[in-house]
Amino acid sequence: MSRLWEGRQTGASDDVLLELGASIQLDIELYREDLAGSRAHAKMLERAGILTSTDLGAILEGLNVIEREIETGKFEIKIELEDIHTHVESRLTQLIGPAAGRLHTARSRNDQIAVDTHLYVRRLAREIMEQISGLCDALIQKAEAEVDSVLPGYTHLQVAQPVRVSHHLLAHFWGFLRDIERFTHAYNTANRLPLGSGALAGVNYKTDREFLRQELGFFEIYQNSMDAVASRDHIQDFLYACTSFGVRASRFAEEIILWNSVEFGFIKINDGLTTGSSIMPQKKNPDAAELVRGRAGRNTGNLINLLMTLKGLPFAYNRDLQEDRTPLLDSAKNTHLIARALQALVRGMTFQKDRLTASLDRGFATATDLADALVLQKNIPFREAHHIAGKLVGLCSEQNLTLAQATPAMRSACSEHLTDDAFYLESISTINSTDRKISQGGTARIRQIEQLAIAKAALADRAQTWSAK
Ligand code: ARG
Repeated sequence: MSRLWEGRQTGASDDVLLELGASIQLDIELYREDLAGSRAHAKMLERAGILTSTDLGAILEGLNVIEREIETGKFEIKIELEDIHTHVESRLTQLIGPAAGRLHTARSRNDQIAVDTHLYVRRLAREIMEQISGLCDALIQKAEAEVDSVLPGYTHLQVAQPVRVSHHLLAHFWGFLRDIERFTHAYNTANRLPLGSGALAGVNYKTDREFLRQELGFFEIYQNSMDAVASRDHIQDFLYACTSFGVRASRFAEEIILWNSVEFGFIKINDGLTTGSSIMPQKKNPDAAELVRGRAGRNTGNLINLLMTLKGLPFAYNRDLQEDRTPLLDSAKNTHLIARALQALVRGMTFQKDRLTASLDRGFATATDLADALVLQKNIPFREAHHIAGKLVGLCSEQNLTLAQATPAMRSACSEHLTDDAFYLESISTINSTDRKISQGGTARIRQIEQLAIAKAALADRAQTWSAK
């Protein structure tokens, strides 16, 4: 096939333009969407009396052949055919002859690529919501299994207060659930039909965009043809959802990496998600978690990449918009992988109770509880109670002892109240500490059981939303 615009230009395209302009290597991933758009368009043209039913039959048949060729790796890619649209048209011409040339009536590649990417974002947003739901489910299950394990909660990466493992895992769960909402938003943005807008101004034919909307299952139609071909809001929203999810995933991945280190030793990661070293025989590196962290950076770069393409771009279509594909496809892949890897990490992690306990004790995690107990049971002003507990921590720390190991002499040196054994031991117990946090959303066992039930219901509710899509 000669170039699409052979009438106007003469001579061959410069090699540099061919190389710069070809997007087929990426567009090929959108083949399902491109074919779906063409099928709907062809049916609409036939209904509008622009195509005969014989031509329509031939076109649909030809598109099916092309689909099979692509899926079986038999479809030939030629850089001079630039993009997916031209490849399909060119092959269709070989297969069915001149009828193929009628398919491009009343459309432009500008509204074609717009419809392709809208359909793609819709499909990927749904797939990713399914993956993140799987991750959320893994978090709930692990939280349920570990509700009676206690972990040091941190601020400033210093041991702060004891929390139940379920509490920490569910903290991540709620964020991931909000990311599902972000993908739902991207899905809704993409659920709008741009096809039928032509190059920018609309088309000179009596087309039926409502029919196209129904055929392609869009919720609504772009009301302005220039907006339809110039907007990349659907990709922008999708890339933001990928970025938000990636950044959140990277924070969790970083914790997994820390927890798995010799220094923390809070968890063991299953071997299948770690690698060894070619030189150091003892190594078990948490590569899966590190790569989650790494890919998240790419997602953020991809969002900025698209925003920079859009910034200052005049209306309507400009070829720069073709640059949307690199970030879109890369983030979609990364996000799939991140969600799958994190889910596997959560399902495969085992908590090391002895190490959690040692860290809670060494970090004096219940020093605040001791101060609170002095206030509540011994009627000491909080400022003074804080001072007493702080002094005892200082003494213990000097001698490398835990609060439980503090001698009676050390305790009485801080306050006479601390010589009351029952009072003292009850106040510094980590499990008791968690169960005193009875405020809504707190770490007490009853609140955790309650939160688990709410989390399950919330996940089921979100899953219903995306599975209906
Ligand atoms: N390959 C182009 C893209 O990806 C399709 C639209 C081409 N339009 C044009 N006027 N050259 O954006």
